[in-house]
Amino acid sequence: MYSKIREYLKNNLSEKRYIHTLAVSEECSYFADIFDLGEKERSLLQRAALFHDITKEKTPDEHIALCRVYNIEFDKAYISTPALFHSLTGGEFAHRLFPSECTDEVVELIKTHTTGGENMTLLQKILFIADSTEATRKHESCIELRNYFHSNAAAEDPKILLDRTIVKSIDSTMGHLICSRKPIAAETVKARNYLLMNSEVLL
Ligand SMILES: [Fe+2]
Ligand SMILES: [Fe+2]
Repeated sequence: MYSKIREYLKNNLSEKRYIHTLAVSEECSYFADIFDLGEKERSLLQRAALFHDITKEKTPDEHIALCRVYNIEFDKAYISTPALFHSLTGGEFAHRLFPSECTDEVVELIKTHTTGGENMTLLQKILFIADSTEATRKHESCIELRNYFHSNAAAEDPKILLDRTIVKSIDSTMGHLICSRKPIAAETVKARNYLLMNSEVLL
């Protein structure tokens, strides 16, 4: 499915990024089964997974130029952590290439895939976590997150487990950012606070 999109990604991303993109798409299918999603939600998630890193390999200057063209406002934290930019520019960039596939709903899903956000929808949460738990990730923290969700999915309420996995992921990212004295995007703090105050994460 979506062969034209896959072909574009194969020709325009590095092999490593392309393989990661396909792995995120597969991991999203796993979550779609766990949460018994309908066809429309599965399709949104698949398209968001395919497009999510479409601008990841652009330079900070290219991202800033794209933000100007697309009228995107960004947090100053993005300047010192330029890897965050691609979630803002990716959806808009993909929308111009594939307007029928990268709809507004897909753009919104892509926006929160790196930082998270306050009161995320189930689809936003899935894309956020699938980016870390996909099977080709080799970083220890990603393997831990994957094992944590996958090994508990049959026994626990998947919604609560998903929230807990997201909080674990944010804790690990924040720990890393603090150790390297890098700023933390406000959206990440909001995502964590919201989950801790509004879900059963702590029970
Ligand atoms: Fe990304
Ligand atoms: Fe990614």
